[in-house]
Amino acid sequence: MSKINGTSSKYAATTATPVMIFSVFNLIIMISSCFAQNREIYLVLMEGGVPVAFHGSSNSPSTFVDRSRRSSNLNSDVLKAHAKKLVDSHDEILESTLETGSYNKLYSFKHIVNGFAVHTTPSQAEKLKNRPQIKLVERDRGAKLMTTYSPQFLGLPEGIWKREEAGGGGGGGGDRHSNAAGEGIVIGFVDSGINPLHPSFVYDPLNPSIKKPNNNTPHFSGACETGPQFPVGSCNGKIISARFFSAGAQAVAPLNSSLDFLSPFDAVGHGSHVASTAAGNAGVPVVVNGFHYGEASGMAPHARIAVYKAVYPTIGTLTDVVAAIDQATHDGVDVLTLSVGPDEPPSDTITFLSVFDVFLLYARRAGVFVVQAAGNQGPAASSVVSYSPWAVSAAACSTDRTYPSSLLLGNGQNVEGVGLSGPTLGTGLIFSKLVLANDALKKGGTFPRTPEYVEECQFHEAFDPNIVHGSVIICTFSAGFYNETSTLTAIINTARTLRFFGFLLIANPAYGDYIAEPIPFSVPGIMIPKVSNAQVILKYYEQQTVRDERGFVTKFGAQSAIGEGRVASFEGRAPTVSRFSSRGPDFIDINRTPTDVLKPDILAPGHQIWAAWSPISASEPILTGYNFALLSGTSMATPHIVGIGALIKQYNPLWTPSMIASAITTTATKYDNYGDLILAEGSDTSLYNGTHFDFGAGFVNATCAIDPGLVLSSAAQPPGQPQPPFGDDISTGRIPIIAAELHECSEQIRNIPVLSYTTKRDSSWLVSTLVHYSSTRNSRFGHTI
Ligand SMILES: *[C@@H]1O[C@H](CO)[C@@H](O)[C@H](O)[C@H]1NC(C)=O
Ligand SMILES: *[C@@H]1O[C@H](CO)[C@@H](O)[C@H](O)[C@H]1NC(C)=O
Ligand SMILES: *[C@@H]1O[C@H](CO)[C@@H](O)[C@H](O)[C@H]1NC(C)=O
Ligand SMILES: *[C@@H]1O[C@H](CO)[C@@H](O)[C@H](O)[C@H]1NC(C)=O
Repeated sequence: MSKINGTSSKYAATTATPVMIFSVFNLIIMISSCFAQNREIYLVLMEGGVPVAFHGSSNSPSTFVDRSRRSSNLNSDVLKAHAKKLVDSHDEILESTLETGSYNKLYSFKHIVNGFAVHTTPSQAEKLKNRPQIKLVERDRGAKLMTTYSPQFLGLPEGIWKREEAGGGGGGGGDRHSNAAGEGIVIGFVDSGINPLHPSFVYDPLNPSIKKPNNNTPHFSGACETGPQFPVGSCNGKIISARFFSAGAQAVAPLNSSLDFLSPFDAVGHGSHVASTAAGNAGVPVVVNGFHYGEASGMAPHARIAVYKAVYPTIGTLTDVVAAIDQATHDGVDVLTLSVGPDEPPSDTITFLSVFDVFLLYARRAGVFVVQAAGNQGPAASSVVSYSPWAVSAAACSTDRTYPSSLLLGNGQNVEGVGLSGPTLGTGLIFSKLVLANDALKKGGTFPRTPEYVEECQFHEAFDPNIVHGSVIICTFSAGFYNETSTLTAIINTARTLRFFGFLLIANPAYGDYIAEPIPFSVPGIMIPKVSNAQVILKYYEQQTVRDERGFVTKFGAQSAIGEGRVASFEGRAPTVSRFSSRGPDFIDINRTPTDVLKPDILAPGHQIWAAWSPISASEPILTGYNFALLSGTSMATPHIVGIGALIKQYNPLWTPSMIASAITTTATKYDNYGDLILAEGSDTSLYNGTHFDFGAGFVNATCAIDPGLVLSSAAQPPGQPQPPFGDDISTGRIPIIAAELHECSEQIRNIPVLSYTTKRDSSWLVSTLVHYSSTRNSRFGHTI
């Protein structure tokens, strides 16, 4: 699998190891050193002790936190004293349980959860586990960005390439509410930060449709932390708050000050991408390498952005992520975006009861609508990394957009491929000499004869400049690409240095078809990911090439032209569940024991999404210098649901998070634009009929979600107890229904998979619906379950 570099959770190896003294006289010291342990971060939840957000709230089961009232007394002396009491209790238990000098407290959590994070050894952590005041001790599993084959290759078969219009609207939001979409709503982004200078986040006070900053978000109280690349003024009215959390990252890895900025600035690009998809300004031109790809708009372009940076190019810890969630909830965000999180289940707790999920539970309990990426480990069953009924998990799909590109051969044959680049020689109709890399090597050159030098075009010194200048060079996918050490950037650098007219990267029968995601190329280029097409090119090339008896080329006769690859085509079947999108059934433990919660919840565009980027591009060298990037992942699906959640909240300010979730899931559709059941990509090139374990409730319909006709709300439990999943409520018949007028959207409420259970039949899992609801047009209210 491809990965975002540097966010691995395997940080234990980078912590300091005790120095061992090797000497016969020090045998005892040596043995004890062998048992010396590396420190790790542990997340600890305390028993009892009501967190600040719920302090003084009534214990009645139907209590929801009144967000408008909450802000006024957030900073009252009573609450401050209560917060201090909780922090003191954390310090007290640490001091009385652990050896002095053996630990370092990183955070006290007090707003929505009573607990702390501590950097210490496993044996010290064990001592904490035995204290009766402590509910749970969990090792930090690390946090990852939920982007998948961002500009990378996989040694896997080709997928279908489709996507939405540039930058949004893919959920079918229409223009019904577009004038001030998201106004008054604050979206929190727990991610890699934000690029405050990006046009998607500019605040334009002259635009009359944008109201004065902060005046309309009285429920929110953030802060603007400054630092490297994030000067005073970065919170500009569009970005209304920005904080960063680094105690976890700093505890476990040496940070690189030229990448891991200790400020809310986004050096990766991921956080900016996610924020602009949910809440970026409308109509921002997407220009890359001088080509205008279209206009980007967020789903809720007038929503305000609150940044909580918690993942760094070098490392991401769960500790910083939960600290961010605690603070975001305290600040009063309406919607919380988690395109980051652990990508493996907790090892010794039930998935729903891991520290991370407990934070999500209490964020929702405090009135925040929480959306989480379902994960990128599909298409295997039970591959979701989002487990709990109180977070909405977004699965990813393609849309009907493709970027077709083609290569024209001198014999008139056209070969399809992929490459976001302009054509060779202006129009793509004038032929250039076609040369196989292997036939253009420098005679007597001293470079190593490895695949990287010979066929993968990674090093310019391998080539004879007189042969390659002004030619189109055929490079071939080989070992270096297969093991992800070779890069397209290196091919492009070779092409620029030696002034190729263009390049091809063709599939290799030894490795099979590969997946090629479109990446903007600064020189004409095309990827030919299918072996069958590669063979067409090579056959033509050999027919036209004259060689001497030793195999050296005496005459290059092959000709080719690379066509325009930057123009989108909108046709074909959509949506289709993306291969990488994690699948249900949901499960409760590390053994993947299935449970009665439907995951994922909802399907949204997450394949090849254009959105804002950060030109530093610390984890993706090929995107360095770009202001926009085309990325795939459930990370990209999540902000579509977040933006729609913001619109629902704007038009229905009193709705609770469960009502918003209900509006989104009950109006989703299981059918694609051909009227067929949504298809899902399998592990090879196959497609199969999707199920609720692939697409959850179905593909989101923004227009209907804003005005769904029917919403369901689960009652909140008293503070301190988990809010029940929908399923529990249903089975005990306690689901209150708040029904509005039924209209065309209600037609879709035939199958409500949120009210469902999972059973095993034969060897496959099945989602059954507990409630069958048949709507009658124009009937009003009166529908009870
Ligand atoms: C959303 O649902 C409405 C009403 O059924 C329908 O007209 C519209 O086409 C749907 N939009 C999408 C994007 O499916
Ligand atoms: C820190 O990052 C810079 C920029 O990528 C790099 O040149 C440098 O080698 C890095 N330093 C360390 C110690 O890794
Ligand atoms: C990747 O493949 C190349 C070419 O065979 C080889 O030189 C290199 O050592 C490989 N790297 C890894 C990490 O396997
Ligand atoms: C997929 O579902 C359609 C009906 O929507 C059905 O006609 C078709 O046979 C199904 N295909 C498979 C492979 O089950």
